[in-house]
Amino acid sequence: MNMIDSYIKAGKIVSKIRCDASEMIKEGCLILDLVEYVESEILKCGGEIAFPCNVSLNEVAAHYTSPANDTNIIHAGDLVKLDLGAMVDGYIADSAITIMASGNKEENYTPDEINQHEEIIEASEAGLEAAIATVRAGVEIGKIGAAVHEAISEYNLNPIFNLTGHSLEQYNLHAGISIPNYDNSDPYILEEGQAIAIEPFATNGKGYVNDAPGHYIFSYMANKPFRMKSTQKVLNYIKNTHPYVPFSGRWITDKFGERRGSIALKQLSEAMAIYPYAPLKEKQDCFVSQKEHTVIVEKEGCTVTTI
Ligand code: CO
Repeated sequence: MNMIDSYIKAGKIVSKIRCDASEMIKEGCLILDLVEYVESEILKCGGEIAFPCNVSLNEVAAHYTSPANDTNIIHAGDLVKLDLGAMVDGYIADSAITIMASGNKEENYTPDEINQHEEIIEASEAGLEAAIATVRAGVEIGKIGAAVHEAISEYNLNPIFNLTGHSLEQYNLHAGISIPNYDNSDPYILEEGQAIAIEPFATNGKGYVNDAPGHYIFSYMANKPFRMKSTQKVLNYIKNTHPYVPFSGRWITDKFGERRGSIALKQLSEAMAIYPYAPLKEKQDCFVSQKEHTVIVEKEGCTVTTI
């Protein structure tokens, strides 16, 4: 299969699962059930998991996935960001959607808040649409950011200024180029055939995220010797199974046990053998939406693989 066919196949897997998983986003849904559903479906569809399924609620913009035994549930009216990625032959489809969880929303939020949640969702959708409309070979990536910012501003909301989309390459989720959500004056010019993930975030806050406590997602960085046998064993496993793309702490504790797995993840992080990603939370604790598609740049536009 050629590269483009692989990108298209990965995109179809992601869009089908995104659609099916969206139906689960309602009052009382366990986040753990949602992420495990998404990850197991990717494998069933013949893809590989490009990164742990992220389910980030409300003021958390990204980088939350369930640890093992996560008892957190979704409440009606919550802003639920579902961000998933699949690979076919290492070619990645990365897509995210925000859903306001269904159920008796009025029990948890005022009518004004519910309206606000709807607006925040619409704004990131508009931002993504505007961005995709600008994509073609020869466009400066700062211009894509300008389109995102302008579309979100029409809702009197802000993009998240310190989060970006990213270029994709084989087995490489963040391949070096960042796609901004405002005009950062980056003159880098897109080329035909490049794959990029565009992901506007919208918020009623100022539009900056900070690290929040906890680490649930990690990446392999470097091989190092460890005196503790079980830690060395975990590192060998990571190096063999997830050398290129991020993995979930849950996958490690499921395999090696809660205690041994957690100790290893801590030691490996401290020694910089693996990189721990913190969940990203809006600075003022304001609510955040996200919408993301993967596109392939063409002469006169682009193909959206995850539509
Ligand atoms: Co992405």
